[in-house]
Parts: sequence; structure tokens; C-alpha cells
Amino acid sequence: MFFPRFLGLICLLGFASGAALLPPDEVISLQVVAKSLGKTDWNFSVDPCSGLSGWVILNPAIKEFENTLTCDCTFDNNTVCHVISIILKAQNLQGTVPRELVRLPFLKEIDLTRNYLNGTIPPEWGSMNLVNISLLGNRVTGPIPKALANISTLANLTIEYNQLTGPIPPEFGDLPQLERLLVTSNNLTGELPANLAKLTTLRDFRISDNSFSGSIPNFIQNWTNIEKLRISDLSGNVSTFPDLSNIKKLKTLILRSCNIIGELPSYLGGMKTLKVLDLSFNKLSGPIPDTYIDLANTDYIYLTGNSLSGPLPEWMMKDGDRMNLFASSKGNTS
Ligand SMILES: *[C@@H]1O[C@H](CO)[C@@H](O)[C@H](O)[C@H]1NC(C)=O
Ligand SMILES: *[C@@H]1O[C@H](CO)[C@@H](O)[C@H](O)[C@H]1NC(C)=O
Ligand SMILES: *[C@@H]1O[C@H](CO)[C@@H](O)[C@H](O)[C@H]1NC(C)=O
Ligand SMILES: *[C@@H]1O[C@H](CO)[C@@H](O)[C@H](O)[C@H]1NC(C)=O
Ligand SMILES: *[C@@H]1O[C@H](CO)[C@@H](O)[C@H](O)[C@H]1NC(C)=O
Ligand SMILES: *[C@@H]1O[C@H](CO)[C@@H](O)[C@H](O)[C@H]1NC(C)=O
Ligand SMILES: *[C@@H]1O[C@H](CO)[C@@H](O)[C@H](O)[C@H]1NC(C)=O
Ligand SMILES: *[C@@H]1O[C@H](CO)[C@@H](O)[C@H](O)[C@H]1NC(C)=O
Ligand SMILES: *[C@@H]1O[C@H](CO)[C@@H](O)[C@H](O)[C@H]1NC(C)=O
Repeated sequence: MFFPRFLGLICLLGFASGAALLPPDEVISLQVVAKSLGKTDWNFSVDPCSGLSGWVILNPAIKEFENTLTCDCTFDNNTVCHVISIILKAQNLQGTVPRELVRLPFLKEIDLTRNYLNGTIPPEWGSMNLVNISLLGNRVTGPIPKALANISTLANLTIEYNQLTGPIPPEFGDLPQLERLLVTSNNLTGELPANLAKLTTLRDFRISDNSFSGSIPNFIQNWTNIEKLRISDLSGNVSTFPDLSNIKKLKTLILRSCNIIGELPSYLGGMKTLKVLDLSFNKLSGPIPDTYIDLANTDYIYLTGNSLSGPLPEWMMKDGDRMNLFASSKGNTS
């Protein structure tokens, strides 16, 4: 039998060095997780918490590559270790998103960015205490399980560039510590649930390139900590510009192709932190407000594909590199 032999070896290694130990059931859990992921280069003859031989590999030559398993070995007066983080980025993993992670009860972070993993997001993860989840750039299908809303510790959920379907579960509004909800480039549908208004801890929200319906919800004005807001391709009815006048920390504001009508709000000019402003492909009309001269330090402003009118401010003309105003106006304007 393989298991008893390698467990014996780990115990020997542990005792020999006086190091704290990973419990045998967690070692077996890692084996099961490795099988699900299709990860073949974890060397179970070596203590997974040792940082040696395959358990921590950094290869700066391959952009984005990272292979790091991290343990916390301070349990029981520094005699017991538990796995707290698994980061496996860009490793050509071709297996399935591992529901078996639940067998690592101390895990706080799972990052499987840029692999070829298929399967669905396991609802079982809802019973864990994860803080960071990233499945960015895989082949994950199916819905976003509402059970994830049980993870009261969840701060960062990054599931961009997959093939997820269905709505954002309304239950997600109950996540008390959510900072980043990034779902760009999936096949999500439905309207943004009103319950998301409660996500006042949110700093970064990206939902572009999906098939959401409805219009920009007014409740985003309640996200007073938001720094990056990327919404595009909403197919619903026209709506006026959402009231963002109470939001003071915006760095990136992208509301692209969202069917917004009416005039550009002048208060945007007062947003000193704004670096990227993209309001292209809406139905905005009227002039560019005078206050926007204060946006002179913004890196990019895109207003393409609207129906703006009136004179183009002189500072904008001087700044062609940062401005994309192509076809942003109609009719007799300068
Ligand atoms: C695993 O580690 C052991 C101990 O360092 C080593 O002898 C063995 O060659 C390693 N196996 C692989 C496949 O690298
Ligand atoms: C923790 O370990 C230290 C050093 O091995 C020992 O001196 C101390 O008594 C231990 N504390 C407890 C509460 O067991
Ligand atoms: C979550 O990810 C961020 C960014 O990589 C990192 O700084 C933080 O320590 C992670 N949190 C946990 C609990 O692993
Ligand atoms: C996932 O990929 C594996 C290996 O390519 C394949 O055997 C399995 O059927 C796939 N599972 C799903 C749910 O697509
Ligand atoms: C989520 O919490 C609800 C209510 O507490 C509970 O009924 C459900 O079983 C939990 N789901 C998971 C996956 O933990
Ligand atoms: C969430 O991710 C951000 C950005 O990577 C990081 O700064 C922050 O510390 C993370 N939050 C937690 C609680 O780890
Ligand atoms: C995405 O959704 C559209 C419309 O529901 C469907 O036609 C398309 O096949 C879906 N694509 C994927 C990759 O699921
Ligand atoms: C936004 O916050 C205000 C003040 O806290 C509250 O009265 C209002 O109901 C919230 N809006 C939504 C849509 O939740
Ligand atoms: C969209 O507009 C149509 C026509 O004005 C109206 O009948 C429908 O109720 C609106 N839908 C929503 C979700 O507001």
C-alpha cells in the first residue's frame, strides 16, 4: 500500500527535524485534490509544508506562473500544521474544479488562475472559510452556486473568463466582507439582483461581456467604497445616468453599452481619483460639462458612440492621445 508508506516517511521526516506536522488526513486530502486537478508533480515523499521539491516553485521566466502551497504551522503550540493556501497558476492543469477542497478545513485561499479546468463550481465550498477564490481563465461551466453566499469570510471572488451560465444569486448580497466580485466574460444572464445593494464593502465590481438583461441598477450609489466599476453590454431598457455623486473613491468607471440616456453628470468632474472613464456606446446627449476640465489628469476618457453636442473643450483637443471621442456626437457640433 502506498499511503501508509508515504505517511510513515513524512512522520519520520517530521520527527527527525522536530518540525510541526501536517495531519495525515490533510495529506490524503491533498492527494485527492491533486487527482481531481490532474496535478502530477506534487511529491508526496516530501512534507507538503516544507516548501521544498515541487511544493513551492516560482518560475519568473513564465509570466503568471505560480505554484505555492502554504501551511500555517503555529497550531497546538507550534506542533501542528494546516494547509491555508493553494496557488496553482498557469500550469496546464486539465482536470476538474475540486469539490474535495472541503477536506482542507483551514484553507483560506484557492487560486487556480489560467488552467484548463472543467466542471462546475462546487456548492460544497459553501461550508468552507475561504477568503480568496480565483478560477480566472478556465473552462468552468454551470451556474454560480448560491451556497457560496454562506462563506461569510469571502473577500475576493474572481471567476472571469469561463463559461458560467445563469444569474448572479441574490444571496450574494448577504456576503458581509466581499471586496471584489469579478465575473467578466462568461455567459451569465438575468438582471442584477436588488439584494446586491447591501454589498457596501465592495471595492471592485466587473461584469462586462456577459448576457445580463435589465439596466444599471440605481442601488450602486450605495456602494460607497467602490473603486473600480466595470459594467458593459446591458440589454435592458434605457435608463438615465446612475447617481454616483456620493462615491468618492472611483478610479475606474466603465459603463459601456448600457443604454444610458440623458446628459453627462457634471459631478464626475469632481472625482479627483478617476483614472479611466469609459461611457462609450450609450445614448448620452448634450454638452461635455465645463467641470470636466478637472479630469485633465485622467489617463483615458472614452465617449465614442454617443450623441453629444456642443463645443469640444480646448483641453480635450490638446489631449488627443488620451481621448477617444470618435463619433461621440451627431449633427452640427464642433
Ligand atoms: C520526491 O522526493 C524524494 C525525496 O527528496 C526524491 O528522492 C524523489 O526522487 C522525488 N520524486 C520525484 C518524482 O521527483
Ligand atoms: C509550548 O512549547 C514550549 C516550547 O516547546 C514550551 O516551553 C511551553 O510550555 C509550551 N506551552 C504549552 C501551553 O504547552
Ligand atoms: C488574498 O489575496 C490577496 C492578493 O493576492 C493577498 O494579499 C491576501 O493575503 C490573500 N488573503 C488570504 C487570506 O490568503
Ligand atoms: C473534464 O475534462 C476531462 C479531461 O479532459 C474529461 O474526462 C471530463 O469528461 C470533463 N468533464 C466535464 C464535466 O466536462
Ligand atoms: C448555507 O446556509 C444555509 C442556511 O444556514 C444552509 O441551509 C445550507 O445548508 C448552507 N449550505 C452550505 C453548502 O453550506
Ligand atoms: C482581496 O484582494 C485584494 C487585491 O488582490 C487584496 O488587496 C486584499 O487584501 C484581498 N482581501 C483579503 C481579505 O485578503
Ligand atoms: C451563451 O448563451 C447564449 C444565449 O443563451 C447561447 O446561445 C450560447 O451558446 C452560450 N454560450 C456558451 C459558451 O454557453
Ligand atoms: C441605500 O442606502 C440607503 C441609506 O443607507 C437606504 O435607505 C436604501 O434603502 C439603500 N438602497 C437600496 C436600494 O438598498
Ligand atoms: C421596458 O420598456 C417597455 C416599454 O416601455 C415596458 O413595457 C417594460 O415594462 C420595460 N421593462 C422594464 C423591465 O422596465
